[in-house]
Amino acid sequence: MTESVRDVREFWDEFYLQKVWSGRVNARLVEVATELPAGRALDVGCGEGADAIWLAEHGWQVVAVDVSATALQRAGAAARESDAGPRIRFERHDLPESFPEGEFDLVQAQFLHSPVHLDRDAVLRQGAAAVAVDGTLLIVDHAAAPPWAGDHASNHEFPTVEGVSAALGLDDTRWNRLRAERVERPAVGPEGQSATIADNVLVLRRVG
Ligand SMILES: C[S@@+](CC[C@H](N)C(=O)[O-])C[C@H]1O[C@@H](n2cnc3c(N)ncnc32)[C@H](O)[C@@H]1O
Repeated sequence: MTESVRDVREFWDEFYLQKVWSGRVNARLVEVATELPAGRALDVGCGEGADAIWLAEHGWQVVAVDVSATALQRAGAAARESDAGPRIRFERHDLPESFPEGEFDLVQAQFLHSPVHLDRDAVLRQGAAAVAVDGTLLIVDHAAAPPWAGDHASNHEFPTVEGVSAALGLDDTRWNRLRAERVERPAVGPEGQSATIADNVLVLRRVG
């Protein structure tokens, strides 16, 4: 195992060991997925699984991947407590070194930010390649650090929505851009703090 691989796994395991499970689904997922017929979904960097569970509870067949064994164990336990468990497969991947197989009607990456090594552009390109024709790619990023990010975000460069779109390098004749915008929302931090934070939201439909 290389030093960077060990660090990535250790960092995120440590992160989740210190974190209390929120169980809150991401608002942009609900907005986007509510408009779609249920199908096959891939959640890239699923963390503790709240989005995967929400999707499965709404009829989707879900593959949810993360590098953190701690997060995946917690996600799996929460899924088993819901009726949605049988519709979710959790897989551990150190993206983009390995990536789940298959194609999906919805691929999402929510807040796929990491203070330790992560080739995000490569992961997002792999995500785009896994979208089936007529499927949707949803990428939601922090537009700026939430107030509770502390040192985790001190050296982090937050991508613009245009930057993310450009880095995907997608063929415009095969993709429709449905949304590319910065959106503000009320949020609650890990200690219950309230703040207004901004997300970058990119929604693309594969048409060919
Ligand atoms: C900021 S969290 C977001 C989690 C979740 N999507 C959410 O919205 O709550 C980023 C997630 O990316 C995962 N991650 C970071 N680097 C990764 C990698 N190389 N491969 C797979 N997952 C990774 C982390 O373990 C973490 O769960």
